[in-house]
Amino acid sequence: MRSFLFVPADSERKLAKGASSGADALILDLEDSVALSNKEAARKSAVDYLKSADRNGPKLVVRINALDTLFWRAELEAVIPERPDMILIPKTFSGECVNRVGQVIDMLERDAGIAPEGHVGIGCVATETAASLFALGTYAGAHPRLTFLTWGAEDLAAALGARDNKDENGVYTGPYQLARTLTLLGAVAAGVAPIDGICKDFRDEKGLEAEARAAVRDGFTGKVAIHPGQIPVINAVFTPSEDDLAHARAVIEAFEKAGDVGVVALDGVMLDIPHLKQAQRLIDRAAAIRS
Ligand code: COA
Ligand code: MG
Repeated sequence: MRSFLFVPADSERKLAKGASSGADALILDLEDSVALSNKEAARKSAVDYLKSADRNGPKLVVRINALDTLFWRAELEAVIPERPDMILIPKTFSGECVNRVGQVIDMLERDAGIAPEGHVGIGCVATETAASLFALGTYAGAHPRLTFLTWGAEDLAAALGARDNKDENGVYTGPYQLARTLTLLGAVAAGVAPIDGICKDFRDEKGLEAEARAAVRDGFTGKVAIHPGQIPVINAVFTPSEDDLAHARAVIEAFEKAGDVGVVALDGVMLDIPHLKQAQRLIDRAAAIRS
């Protein structure tokens, strides 16, 4: 999945708009975009949406409230029988949070008679407190449902008492670069998808594209959006281009032609086994996006 669009679950208009946004997944949000007074209405509206949505459309993810609130369990009880594709846990502090939620989902699925192949996945926003950054190495093996990790700079800035999380050129400062990097490493170490966080300046298409390109360059496989206008940019950047694919094919061909060797030269550049792996991975990824 390349693009995940946050949709406040208490907004009928946004829920309606999200379906046609072109996003690979919608995140029906019960957390930070929903006022405290509206939590129950948002939960009902998310359940109704899950019941009635075209399930051949975007994947449906529900972001529950954090594990230090009273909401999250009731939210899981309400949504799991309606078979969302994934649950997104905010403000996780370690792999232990995934295990805790994973076990509750195991029970709820059993109670609802949902077969094991109907398993709902789990994503985490894993960088929203200072302590959480020290635990990004704990997600590997936390629970088999873990599917992706993403990061957030807004709650982290609030937790740190920061005035801003970007410098005067609009570039994330040290603490947020660290959060982004540790999320990438933690996700890859856990064998799950690393998903880049949001760009909150939703009218700044150039800034979004630059962030998305940097994310692809570093190994992220998708990015979260907060506005439908961001989806075409994210989908385009995270889809391997014809040029990228042609280069990957040329790398594979160069190795095939050379026979049983570990290193070849292509257009004045040394290529060895990691480059062959990267080329194969790009082709596999393009095929997965097409299917
Ligand atoms: N999902 C679906 N539809 C959305 C949307 C979203 N995230 N954001 C905007 N839209 C819709 C609007 O409802 C509007 O459609 P309408 O005319 O049919 O009502 C259209 O897209 C254009 O919206 P626009 O006027 O450009 O923006 P806005 O001022 O209405 O909304 C935000 C701006 C930031 C409030 C809105 O984009 C939003 O709520 N984003 C999600 C926030 C969120 O979930 N945060 C938590 C995670 S960080
Ligand atoms: Mg938040």
